[in-house]
Amino acid sequence: MIEFRQVKLPDELDTLHQLDQKIFAEYPGDLFFAEDWLEFDSYWMFEDGRVVGCAAFHPHVDFDLTPRPGCVHIVSTGILPEYRGRGLGRKQKDWQIEYARARGFGVIVTNMRKSNVRIIRLNELFGFQRRLVSPGYYLDPPEDALVMELLLAQHPPAPGSPKGARRPAP
Ligand SMILES: CC(C)(COP(=O)(O)OP(=O)(O)OC[C@H]1O[C@@H](n2cnc3c(N)ncnc32)[C@H](O)[C@@H]1OP(=O)(O)O)[C@@H](O)C(=O)NCCC(=O)NCCS
Repeated sequence: MIEFRQVKLPDELDTLHQLDQKIFAEYPGDLFFAEDWLEFDSYWMFEDGRVVGCAAFHPHVDFDLTPRPGCVHIVSTGILPEYRGRGLGRKQKDWQIEYARARGFGVIVTNMRKSNVRIIRLNELFGFQRRLVSPGYYLDPPEDALVMELLLAQHPPAPGSPKGARRPAP
């Protein structure tokens, strides 16, 4: 069974930081600081009672922190390495989109290293479009960011379905 529970901050900050270090072990320079997490709305992802990942959101801002009412920035999508490749990323992305819909956001923005094929493909599966490339966004090591967006108004839930974020069948 898959469940999501809001991270209790600041009480669970150390545990969250440890999980983030495991998920983003390839890019320790991309880890968030405590002050970042305190701004975010973050969630543990559980499978059958075990933590398998974490998702985090920053409401009403664009990817570059410009205020953007009605937009939610997905700041983190992550599955622990040992649980990858068996559909949990899809389940997390599906839930993230439901999170945004349920709170009335009209658009989701997210960004990633241009080389991060796994998350780019995952976002594309759910209809995210490539919006722009932000040169030099990441510092350690330096890399451009790809910024992707999903306009929820253009992807209404299918009738009778709680999901519906995936692109309609051709
Ligand atoms: C990206 C991530 C969340 C995917 O999680 P996952 O549980 O492995 O994903 P799934 O098994 O649900 O796969 C979903 C889709 O993701 C894409 N994907 C996953 N692994 C991939 C890989 N190694 N290569 C290419 N695409 C991949 C595919 O489109 C896949 O769909 P498919 O199985 O139909 O091909 C996971 O790799 C991760 O946590 N990475 C580290 C953190 C990160 O980079 N986060 C993104 C930036 S915030």
